[in-house]
Amino acid sequence: MSLPVIPAPTTTTTSDDTCTLSGDSAVVVQSPELAGPAALFVREVRLDSGLTLHPPVIRDRTVDGTVPPDETRAAAVTVLISADGLDGVPSAAGVRADGDAVDERYGLEVTSDGVRVWGPTPEAVHRGLTSLRQLISAHLQDGTAVLPAARIVDGPRFAWRGLSLDVVRTFHPPAEVKRVIDMLALYKLNVLHLHLTDDQGWRVEVPSRPALTQVGAAGAIGDRPGGYYSQEELADLVAYAADRYVTVVPEIDMPGHTSAVFAAYPELAPAELRTIDLGNGNSIPLNALEPGRPETWAFVEDVLDAVVPQFPQSAYVHIGGDEAWGMADEDHAAFVDQAAALVRARGKRVVGWQEIARATLGPDDVAQYWISIDVDAADAGNGPKPPEDLLPILVEHLRKAEGDAPKALAAGARLIASPTTWLYFDRPHGDASADPAQEEARKRLGLEFYGPATLRDGLAWDPVEDTPGVTSTDQLAGVEAAIWCETITGPDDLELMLLPRLPGAAEKAWSQQTATDWPEYAARLAEQSPAWRNRTWTWLQSVEVSWR
Ligand code: ACM
Repeated sequence: MSLPVIPAPTTTTTSDDTCTLSGDSAVVVQSPELAGPAALFVREVRLDSGLTLHPPVIRDRTVDGTVPPDETRAAAVTVLISADGLDGVPSAAGVRADGDAVDERYGLEVTSDGVRVWGPTPEAVHRGLTSLRQLISAHLQDGTAVLPAARIVDGPRFAWRGLSLDVVRTFHPPAEVKRVIDMLALYKLNVLHLHLTDDQGWRVEVPSRPALTQVGAAGAIGDRPGGYYSQEELADLVAYAADRYVTVVPEIDMPGHTSAVFAAYPELAPAELRTIDLGNGNSIPLNALEPGRPETWAFVEDVLDAVVPQFPQSAYVHIGGDEAWGMADEDHAAFVDQAAALVRARGKRVVGWQEIARATLGPDDVAQYWISIDVDAADAGNGPKPPEDLLPILVEHLRKAEGDAPKALAAGARLIASPTTWLYFDRPHGDASADPAQEEARKRLGLEFYGPATLRDGLAWDPVEDTPGVTSTDQLAGVEAAIWCETITGPDDLELMLLPRLPGAAEKAWSQQTATDWPEYAARLAEQSPAWRNRTWTWLQSVEVSWR
C-alpha cells in the first residue's frame, strides 16, 4: 500500500495496526536541538489540519515551560537524533544552495504505541516530520488522526530542490511569498530562487544606487503595481524560509533583461537603444549591459555588495545570463566571465541560466538547463508562431542552446534541471478544472507559445534521462521548477499555476523512483487537498484527480 506522501519515500512498509493522534498527543523531544523542528511541526499541523497537539516536551519539560501533559494519556510523537536503519538509503546527489553537506535522510515509524521520527540532523528530523504532517492531514477526521502502522526510511535523490519565482512581471508582496515558501516546505523543496530583476522592474534595495528602486521598481508588466522588498522585508523573508529549511537564492539578471536598470541609470544603457515590436503593444528590448565600459562594472560591484549580504544562507548568487538578445557572443561571454569573477571574489559561487556555459565555467559553478524547446518545430513554425521579426533570433538562440548543457558538463560544472517542457509552470494547464471560474482563468493563464501541459505530463520525465549530456545523478546539482508571471496578475493566479504542479516537481527532485505511475501518484495527490483547503491555497481542481 502506498501512503499519501509526496514525494514518494524511498522505502515504505505498512501493517494492519493503527495509531491514533489527537489533541491529547504530545511531541516528545529527545535532544534539545530538535525543540525548534518540533515546535514548527506542532504549528504546521494546526494550520494544515486544525489538530492542536500539545506543545513539545523536552524529555520531561515543555519547551515553553508549561506543565507537561501526562505522556501515558495518548500516543505521542517522539523525535530523536539517530541514523538507525538509514544506511540503505542513498546519499543525495548534487549540491545544496546553502553549500553545506547536510544529511536529510530520516526514518518514520508508526506503531500502535506511537510515532517515532529520527534522523542524523535536525533538518533530517524536520523532513520526517513533514511526511508525518501529510499523513495527519490525510487521515484526520473529527479531530483525530488514525494513522496506518508503517515504517518509512527515506532521503532525497537531489540536494538542490527548488522553485524559481518571477517577482518582476508581477510583484508578489512578502505575505504571498511566505505562502509560496509554505508550499515548498510541505513538499520538501529547499530552495526559493527569487528572480529579482528584469526588464519590467527591480525588486531589491541597493542603497548606493537608490534609483534602482525609486525608478526601477515603479512598475511591472502593463499597469500592474510595482514594488520592491526593503532590506527589512527581505531579512524577514529569508529568516522565515530558513526556519523552514528553505534557502533563498537571489538572481540579478544580467547582462540582458536590464531595461529597468537603464530606466534608473540611462548612462549605463547602450548609445543606441533597439527593440523588436511584437505588434501587440509589447516589444522585446535588444539592449544589454556592456562589458567594455568601466561604469558597467562599478554598477555590478555596487549591486553585488548590497545584495550578497541580504541572502546570508545562500552559497550562490544567480547572475542570470539568459536571452541577451542582440548582444555579440564574445561580449556576452566576456560579461559572464567578469560578473562570475566578482561573485567569486565575494566568497559566493556562481549559478546562472544555461547560456552562461558559453563563458568559462568551472567545477564549483552551476548552469540552469531550461531550453528544452524543439528548435526544428519552432523553425518550421509548428505551434503558435512568435512574431516574424523575432523568429530568426529565437531560432538562432535555440540552436546555440543545444551546446550549453554538454559544454557546462565538459567544464566540470553541474546542471540544475529546469526543462521548459516539464518544469515551466507558466505553461497553460492542460487539465480541465471542475470549477467554471477556474476554467475561465485557465484560458487566460500561461504562455500560449509553450502549449498546454497536463499534470500527468509533469510526471512523465526523468531529470537524468531528459537532460542533454547527463548520464549520472551527480552531474546535476538538482531540480528546479520555474514560474514566470507575464500572464499571472496576482496571488490567486500564481497559486492556480503552482498547484497542483509543485508536488510533481518535488516528486522528481526528491524521490528515488525514476518512473512515476500516474494513477498511483494521482491517488496520493488527491489526499493533499484537505491541507490545501485549510491553508486557503488556491489550486487547479483538475478533473483528472479525485480530490478529497
Ligand atoms: C528564461 O526562461 N529566460 C530563463
